[in-house]
Amino acid sequence: MAPGIEPPTIRSVALPPELQLPPILIVPFSLQEHGIPIDMGYAVAPHHSGVYPVHSQLYEAWKSVWGIKVTSTEEYPHLRPARYRRGFIHNGIQVLPRQTCGLFTHTIFYNEYPGGSKELDKSIRGGELFLTVLLNPISIFMTHLSNYGNDRLGLYTFESLVKFVQCWTNLRLQTLPPVQLAERYFQIFPDERDPLWQNPCHDKRHKDIWSKEKTCDRLPKFLIIGPQKTGTTALHSFLSIHPAITSSFPSPTTFEEIQFFSGANYHNGIDWYMDFFPFPSNVSTDFMFEKSANYFDTEVAPKRAAALLPRAKILAVLINPADRAYSWYQHQRAHQDPVALNHTFHEVVTAGASAPRDLLALQRHCLNPGAYAIHLDRWLQHYQASQLHIVDGALLRSNPVLVMEGIQRFLGVTPIFNYTQALMYDDSKGFWCQRVEGGRAKCLGKSKGRKYPELSSESRAFLAEYYHEHNMDLLRLLSRLGQPLPSWLRQELQSTSWS
Ligand code: A3P
Repeated sequence: MAPGIEPPTIRSVALPPELQLPPILIVPFSLQEHGIPIDMGYAVAPHHSGVYPVHSQLYEAWKSVWGIKVTSTEEYPHLRPARYRRGFIHNGIQVLPRQTCGLFTHTIFYNEYPGGSKELDKSIRGGELFLTVLLNPISIFMTHLSNYGNDRLGLYTFESLVKFVQCWTNLRLQTLPPVQLAERYFQIFPDERDPLWQNPCHDKRHKDIWSKEKTCDRLPKFLIIGPQKTGTTALHSFLSIHPAITSSFPSPTTFEEIQFFSGANYHNGIDWYMDFFPFPSNVSTDFMFEKSANYFDTEVAPKRAAALLPRAKILAVLINPADRAYSWYQHQRAHQDPVALNHTFHEVVTAGASAPRDLLALQRHCLNPGAYAIHLDRWLQHYQASQLHIVDGALLRSNPVLVMEGIQRFLGVTPIFNYTQALMYDDSKGFWCQRVEGGRAKCLGKSKGRKYPELSSESRAFLAEYYHEHNMDLLRLLSRLGQPLPSWLRQELQSTSWS
């Protein structure tokens, strides 16, 4: 055993009848020290340190130095209540939820159990310990070295517990070694494989466990969630001009966006995410933010974002979904997507269910994000309406100064920065740009505000009908939230009010 690592004991596995395993006891251990198996692929950290909240270096070291495959913690997602603890997998190491048995390193003698030995027996005979085994299909306990060596209070406790469970329930108890147990656990609970990272500073125990070197201040106060092709890059660049607002560092791999909550990056953990933000100079007045335009319509993003950033403000930019769909199609053509190059936009959006898969994939990317109400509803399951601000993307394009003022009021940034001087309209670009030294315009690159033929009236009519119900849902949602209707939505619904 490495110093500082306590020998683990997995005491019991209780499965309800439908999940029961054949009553086989697997004992595959070969290496033993003092009669204790030591090649179990299992390790725990003192005080859960580094296991949760995750310290990635610990996982790396466990894997590469000791070949550890499984660990356990009582801290995920929180210490209490025990039956809500969950497992997760990080960096290939399976983290199992561990239960609390009430015995501590200093609980050595039966008569000295806190509150008296009666309390321990109560816990075993129908009390907390019994309920823990009853309510958790898999229970993992850890005894401490002193219990092993000194008084065997752990043995007394668990022998009594097993006898009690066998006498009063029809549960069949079974024990598995850690690696097999972890496999079994994630077969039974596949949904738990993906972790849900929380802010360690929102839980005092987590904060205490966390490294003193780390800070929770390197997290954004607001997010621009997209959707793609609505003007999110323009909004990002305008916000970055603001003296009190700081953007995340650009990611070299994903078109500058971090794309943390929406995809595989999430598995890198929160230290990785925080590295994209500077150490704030003045925590209360610095507004850090990031923009990842695919958060909007990625199903898992709101839940993940709310777990880490429950108090964040959320900005979504909406334009007419027909224009958004067309802009995405043009974006794909510009990126030489063969499907977009070989099909007209009309063919893409009108393709039937039997069309080739790649055509349907492009169609999905064009059409799905534009079902705005569905996606906003999902965000509203995790955030309060007061945390969400809908930016009218058409107005952002025509009158960004006005839009930026509204956004600042929503964010609560003071003093309000006047964008009149900071922005200027550039005739050749045909868009608003940043005014830089010498009165010159610094516009977004050529991938934003592309020149392409207008959307055909045929496709516009098709999409007006396609999005009619979605736009009506958006109207109802915005009315319910008391948010103003974007001008394009008003116009669109007026022109399709015949249906
Ligand atoms: P097009 O290139 O199809 O015209 P996003 O940054 O979310 O991907 O959105 C890109 C779109 O932002 C562009 O789509 C463009 O219409 C719009 N946009 C709005 N304001 C802009 C600005 N000031 N400069 C460039 N593009 C802007």
